Amino acid sequence: MQNVKVGLGANSYEIRVGSGLLSEAGLWLKEAGYAGKAVIITDTTVKPLYAGVLGQGLQRAGFSVKVMEVPAGEEQKTLENAGRLYDGLNDILAERTTPVLALGGGVIGDLAGFVAATFMRGVPLVQVPTTLLAMVDSSIGGKTAVDHGSLKNVIGAFYQPKLVVADIDTLKTLPEAELSNAMAEVIKSAAVKDGDFFDFLINNVKKARGIYPPVLEKIIAATAKIKAGIVEKDEKEAGLREVLNFGHTVGHAVEAVSGFRIRHGQAVAIGMVAAAKISSRLGLLDNVEVTRLEKLIREAGLPVRIPELDKKKLIQAMGHDKKVRQGKVRFVLLKSIGEAFVTDNVPSALVEEVLSGE
Ligand SMILES: NC(=O)c1ccc[n+]([C@@H]2O[C@H](COP(=O)([O-])OP(=O)(O)OC[C@H]3O[C@@H](n4cnc5c(N)ncnc54)[C@H](O)[C@@H]3O)[C@@H](O)[C@H]2O)c1
Ligand SMILES: [Zn+2]
Repeated sequence: MQNVKVGLGANSYEIRVGSGLLSEAGLWLKEAGYAGKAVIITDTTVKPLYAGVLGQGLQRAGFSVKVMEVPAGEEQKTLENAGRLYDGLNDILAERTTPVLALGGGVIGDLAGFVAATFMRGVPLVQVPTTLLAMVDSSIGGKTAVDHGSLKNVIGAFYQPKLVVADIDTLKTLPEAELSNAMAEVIKSAAVKDGDFFDFLINNVKKARGIYPPVLEKIIAATAKIKAGIVEKDEKEAGLREVLNFGHTVGHAVEAVSGFRIRHGQAVAIGMVAAAKISSRLGLLDNVEVTRLEKLIREAGLPVRIPELDKKKLIQAMGHDKKVRQGKVRFVLLKSIGEAFVTDNVPSALVEEVLSGE
């Protein structure tokens, strides 16, 4: 097992990564001083797979356990479901000290996190991520949210968990597409912060896709550490965290213009290649590095080129992204693999050129 610390003063917590951890979580909570009731919030896909093991561990540690589920899927990340979960917590007379365990992917992490942040103005939250994306990204950093109409992730709260338990055994049942989708965020983190980790990924991406536990453990811990390091310096996203948007300027536009037919990770993969090419054409990044990035992205099962989408619409969509500041499109660019910076000074002609594959 690997332990990654997120140092945020009184809000500090640990991310534990390894095999067989679901059954340990109950004991860890007991050791941390919790007792009495515990609530597992999960989705209909994850519940039959993992709620049993997690719940039994909690019971062995003396907790009385209530499991609440919502149907699986992004469209379930709603205020209506948050409302149902509040009712469920109220029904069992949950107290301010009753821990809520978010067991599932990023949808459950965000929704249950939002519920934990707001029920009684905050009950203890434990993230138990079961997708690679949730393990390396959404369970860390304390951003919780629901979607509301066309507002995605706009209604939410910063609320740090007390503990993150990433049991890599759960990834064995994860569909392959979910794994490669999340690899985009893994590659992104290495590309902006850690050149050695990037080299490790180049040598081990095939083993990761084959769900080889030692490699997955290392990848999750290393990616979590990068995010933890950035969150420690910028808990409420005042600026520094922005480097984690590498690939996301073009990526969000690709997602939007494709009508969300292209998934987030695929879109970010395309966006990373575009941002690397822009960096190279501005004379900042060696072209060899662009090629290495492209190769790794391909081997992770992700696309590198923009499919048949209207380039004008893409440029327009970039202007509407929530990351735009004072009308200027902001890009995360690379100086080298492992070193990134943010700029709003990329000529739009260059963006168009790269998007057109010229
Ligand atoms: N809070 C943040 O900082 C942050 C960061 C990134 C993404 N997000 C959010 O995360 C969400 C996406 O997360 P996701 O990709 O994990 O999606 P998800 O939660 O929808 O999970 C993907 C699918 O996999 C299923 N699943 C989960 N674990 C499984 C397992 N072990 N075996 C088999 N199936 C399993 C789920 O039921 C779901 O159908 C989005 O809502 C996004 O906005 C939040
Ligand atoms: Zn992302």
